[in-house]
Amino acid sequence: MFQRTFLILYCLAVSYVIADDYVVSNRRFPKDFKFGTASAAYQIEGGWDADGKGENIWDRSTHLYPEKNSYQNGDVACDSYNKWEEDVALLKDMGVNTYRFSIAWSRVLPTGFVNSSNSAGIEYYKKLIAALKENNIEPLVTMHHWDIPTYLEDLGGFLTAEMQTWFVDYARFLFENFGDDVKEWITFNEPKQTCEHGYGSGALAPNIQGPGTKDYICGHNLIIAHGKAYRLYENEFKAKQGGRVTMVIDSNWFEPASDLDADKEAAERNLLFTYGWFGHPINFGDYPDIMKERIANRSAQEGYESSRLPTFTEEEKAIINGTVDFMCVNIYTSSMAAAISEPDIVPLGPSRDLDIGTNVYQPDDWEPTVTSWFKVVPWGARKLVKWISDQYGQPEIIVTENGYHDNGTVIHDLETRGRYHKLYLSNLQDALYLDNVNLTGYMAWALTDDFEWQYGYNIQLGLYQVNFTDPERPRTAKDSAAFYKHVVTTRCLVEESECVD
Ligand SMILES: *[C@@H]1O[C@H](CO)[C@@H](O)[C@H](O)[C@H]1NC(C)=O
Ligand SMILES: *[C@@H]1O[C@H](CO)[C@@H](O)[C@H](O)[C@H]1NC(C)=O
Ligand SMILES: *[C@@H]1O[C@H](CO)[C@@H](O)[C@H](O)[C@H]1NC(C)=O
Ligand SMILES: *[C@@H]1O[C@H](CO)[C@@H](O)[C@H](O)[C@H]1NC(C)=O
Ligand SMILES: *[C@@H]1O[C@H](CO)[C@@H](O)[C@H](O)[C@H]1NC(C)=O
Ligand SMILES: *[C@@H]1O[C@H](CO)[C@@H](O)[C@H](O)[C@H]1NC(C)=O
Repeated sequence: MFQRTFLILYCLAVSYVIADDYVVSNRRFPKDFKFGTASAAYQIEGGWDADGKGENIWDRSTHLYPEKNSYQNGDVACDSYNKWEEDVALLKDMGVNTYRFSIAWSRVLPTGFVNSSNSAGIEYYKKLIAALKENNIEPLVTMHHWDIPTYLEDLGGFLTAEMQTWFVDYARFLFENFGDDVKEWITFNEPKQTCEHGYGSGALAPNIQGPGTKDYICGHNLIIAHGKAYRLYENEFKAKQGGRVTMVIDSNWFEPASDLDADKEAAERNLLFTYGWFGHPINFGDYPDIMKERIANRSAQEGYESSRLPTFTEEEKAIINGTVDFMCVNIYTSSMAAAISEPDIVPLGPSRDLDIGTNVYQPDDWEPTVTSWFKVVPWGARKLVKWISDQYGQPEIIVTENGYHDNGTVIHDLETRGRYHKLYLSNLQDALYLDNVNLTGYMAWALTDDFEWQYGYNIQLGLYQVNFTDPERPRTAKDSAAFYKHVVTTRCLVEESECVD
């Protein structure tokens, strides 16, 4: 039996009172639950041109278009290229059993091609992986966390089908060099962001605009690249290396605005266009029907000769169908979705939002953070992992990112960031124990403050603060670091004396 502890009422801001109806489970997570933190190469490493590293699209975007990136860059970031031993020591002290990080493609293969490898880059990741394993921390490694070499971008990047071959060559290189020690591989992180904002809105590197067209082409090449990399591992490496391969997909939970069928369909449509855009092809071999139908229909009315959503050939369907060993999701916030009348056709002026055709919003009375789109919605996390579990046949699921935005100055963050992790973890645990979701891990974003893409250093999520104006980049524990250490070491969210198995 387990009881529930009521949180006391907090007041964050004069204009907003946090509801007091949150409950926190006192039950322990399973003994083998994976607790860790997550990071990405460009956001922490720095050393952008050190020891033979090639330029990637984020080096270029921050240098050429500083205005798109808060006039800041990741040239030095947390200097983890030099301070990785200190980061491993922090992980060890925290007691985590897993560390999610990414390999910078252009650090190991400066042009992106396998005929130009960089031994200093390979050595860097070998040392990092060895140090993690010495401390009983399993590496969970992302191959692509948004930072393709500019050389490949200049040849077409994700808009060319050749990217499939380049990525598979890179994957082979990684399996050969690191596969004896890395047993869990993530091909791509958040492809929705790579494609929707890298090649759709243009807000993220490589800052190309093509909403409703290039975003779908990017997704298409990326999904096939994933499938081919999965098949490579399955056919040539799995027997001897014994690891697993997956993709990390990000999504909001979308809550129907009312009990009306039309609003429920609107919420479901958002989930299918967001998580399902990638989740369906790698599980079932094709896009969700609703995506195919709506985009084809609107494309025809807009005057396109064929659907703006590319079509998989039968051969491609066979390659991508069932190419995921466990599911992953990055969760931050939720939205409401309401039905609207069919958006007007804009000749040759499409977008993914119009293709979805719903009203998506966050109510004013949801708890805010410093970021306009990011409200604290712990119950949404439970519903989202349950939806993924139901959609894809009760797979194993790992939450590969979850974390809280503030402006980075707050060290005493127990009642903001600490509380966020506590409430989200409690809801995720309810999904595990009460909804039979096979949730096996949770990676907090992030160990340290870092370079947060278009926000630069203005938005932070770290359990440790980094002083980015100090050349030594010192790390200072926030109060949430002690809280997360408590969670990891006790597998419990409340005082140890109140925890039950
Ligand atoms: C490396 O491979 C790429 C792609 O096949 C090719 O275009 C390039 O010429 C090669 N470079 C060298 C130095 O062999
Ligand atoms: C994917 O594989 C499953 C199981 O073999 C099969 O039922 C399904 O038709 C395949 N999907 C496609 C799109 O071919
Ligand atoms: C295509 O769009 C039109 C206009 O909104 C609608 O009447 C029709 O049902 C749609 N067809 C499909 C297959 O979605
Ligand atoms: C959950 O996933 C793990 C790892 O794949 C597996 O060993 C376990 O049997 C699954 N549990 C359930 C209840 O399906
Ligand atoms: C950062 O946020 C804290 C807490 O909301 C606030 O007290 C502080 O004034 C903010 N600092 C800046 C520089 O905005
Ligand atoms: C950050 O480092 C700079 C330079 O060493 C120092 O002046 C500043 O006080 C530090 N800021 C904090 C918040 O410790």
